[in-house]
Amino acid sequence: MRKQMDQLEDKIAQAHLGGGQTRIDRQHAKGKLTARERIDILLDDGSFEEMGMLVVHRSSDFGMEDQKIPGDGVVTGYGRIDQRLVYVYAQDFTVFGGSLSETHAEKICKIMDLAIANGAPIIGLNDSGGARIQEGISSLGGYADIFYRNTLASGVIPQISAIMGPCAGGAVYSPAITDFIYMVERSAYMFVTGPNVVKTVTNEDVSSEDLGGAQTHAVKSGVTHFTAANDLDCLMQIRKLLSYLPQSNKEQVAHIDYTYDDESREALRTIIPDASSKPYDMKEVVHHIVDLDSFYEVHKDYADNILVGFGRLAGRSIGIVGNQPASLAGVLDVNSSKKAARFVRFCDCFNIPLLVLVDVPGFLPGTDQEWNAIITNGAKLLYAFSEATVPRVTLITRKAYGGAYDVMNSKHIGADMNFAWPTAEIAVMGAKGASEIIFRKEIKAADDPESVLKQKESEYAEKFAHPYRAAERGFVDEVIDPADTRIKLIKCFGMLSGKKIAGPSRKHGNIPL
Ligand code: HXC
Repeated sequence: MRKQMDQLEDKIAQAHLGGGQTRIDRQHAKGKLTARERIDILLDDGSFEEMGMLVVHRSSDFGMEDQKIPGDGVVTGYGRIDQRLVYVYAQDFTVFGGSLSETHAEKICKIMDLAIANGAPIIGLNDSGGARIQEGISSLGGYADIFYRNTLASGVIPQISAIMGPCAGGAVYSPAITDFIYMVERSAYMFVTGPNVVKTVTNEDVSSEDLGGAQTHAVKSGVTHFTAANDLDCLMQIRKLLSYLPQSNKEQVAHIDYTYDDESREALRTIIPDASSKPYDMKEVVHHIVDLDSFYEVHKDYADNILVGFGRLAGRSIGIVGNQPASLAGVLDVNSSKKAARFVRFCDCFNIPLLVLVDVPGFLPGTDQEWNAIITNGAKLLYAFSEATVPRVTLITRKAYGGAYDVMNSKHIGADMNFAWPTAEIAVMGAKGASEIIFRKEIKAADDPESVLKQKESEYAEKFAHPYRAAERGFVDEVIDPADTRIKLIKCFGMLSGKKIAGPSRKHGNIPL
C-alpha cells in the first residue's frame, strides 16, 4: 500500500506543479496568480474538490506524446462560495499557455454539464493562448462544445467569466455568451484577431491593450461588465456578485442581514434641483433608497447615461435600472438601450425583481443614432421590459417624456406599480420644445417673441409638467413624498413577491437583435 500511496502522491505533486516552477515564477512576475491559487481565493477555505486532475491530452503530433502534464492545462471541480455550491474551471497558463486541447475542453464540458444538471452557478477563470495549435481541428471542436453548453445553460444557471490573461480568437465567444465578464486591468485582453492580423488586414497599428484591454472593453465596446485592479480584486468581486444571485432559475435569492441610515430618508427630499434642466446624480438617489452599501453597479464605465446594478431592499436582492441625468441629461441612446435591455433580461431570467428610476428627456436625436439603429436598439429595451415577468416597480423622479416614458417600464407595458415624486414631469415633451411647435405662428407674429415663448412655456408647464395628469388616468399609482420612497418600495415588493403570470404559449419571442 505504501508504494501505491507514494505513486498517488507523486502524481498529485506533478499535477500541482503544472508547467513547472520556472513557468510559475514567470506567471507571478507578471503579477498573475496560478490557476490553483485563484481557485483557493475564490472559494471558501478548503471547499474545493478537484475533478480530472490526472487527465492528459491524446495528441501525438509535434512531439506532444512526450509532453503530457496531468490536468492538461485546466483545473476543474466544485466548491463553495459563502457555503453555496458553485462549479469552477481555471485555465493554467503554465501548461502550454493554458491552450485548449480536446481533453481540456472535455474537462470544462463535464463540469458545465454537472452545473446545469444540479442547478448551480459556473465560474470560468480564463487565461489561455487559445486553441492548442498542435491539435488543430480537435481543439476547435472543443470550443464549439463549450459554446453549445453556454447556450444551453443561459437563463438556467448564472454563468460568470473572468478574463485573467489572454483570451483571443474564437475563445472570446464562450465568455460573450455568459452573463457577466470580469477583466483584470493590464493582464487581460480579449479580441477576435490580435494586433498582427489587424495590421495585415487594415494596416492599423494598435497595441493589445488598446485593441482589447480591460479599459477598452469597459468603456468603448461594453464587452466587459466589470474591471478589477488585480487577480485578488477580481476574485473577491465575483464572490460579492454571487450574493445577489440565486443558484438557478428555479430558486429565489436568499435574504441577508442589512442596515439602513435613517438620515437618507430626508436626503431624498433635497436631491432634485429646483431648475428642471439642472443635472443631479441618480446614484445618490439609489444609495439613499437601498440598504447601506448594497449597490453594486454593473457596466459602470459604459453608456453612463443609464445606470444598472444590483442592490438590496430590506435584505432582498433587486435589479436597478435608472436614467442618469448627470450624463447626457439621461437620454436614451443606442448603447444605453442595449446595456439596460441585457440587464433587464438577466434579472428576469433569475427571478430578481426590477426597480426602475426614471428621469428621461427622450431619445437622443441625430444621424449617428439613426444610422446606428436607435430604432432597433431602443426596441430592445422596450421588448425586454415588456416581456419581463418578475415584479416590476417604477419611480419617476423627474422627467418622463415622449416615447422614452413608454419604454422606461411604464404602466402600459406591464409595470406592476408606478410611483412618482411630486417633482415628476410626465408629458409628450418638455415645455419649451412643445411651445415652440404648437405656438410657432403666434410666437413668430408677436412683437416680443421671447416673452410670448416664455409665457406659453409656463402655461404648458403648468398644464403638463407634473405627475397629476398621469395620476388622474391611473398611469401613476401613487404620488409620494420622496422621504417615504424606501418604505413604499419595501412594502410594494413584498406585496408582489408571489407574482406569477404566464404569457401566450410560444417557442420563444423574437427580440429585435
Ligand atoms: C499551444 C501555446 C499556445 C497555443 C501559447 N502557447 N499559446 N501552445 N497552443 N495556442 C505556449 C507557448 O508555446 C509557450 O510555451 C507558453 O504557451 C507561453 O507562451 P508565451 O508566448 O511564452 O507567453 P506570452 O509571451 O505571455 O504570450 C502569450 C500569447 C502568445 C500572447 C498568448 O503565446 C500567443 O500569441 N500565442 C498564440 C495565440 C494564438 O494564435 N492562438 C490561436 C488563436 S486561434 P513554452 O513551452 O515556451 O512555455 C483560436 C481559435 C479558436 O484560438 C477558435 C474557436 C472557435
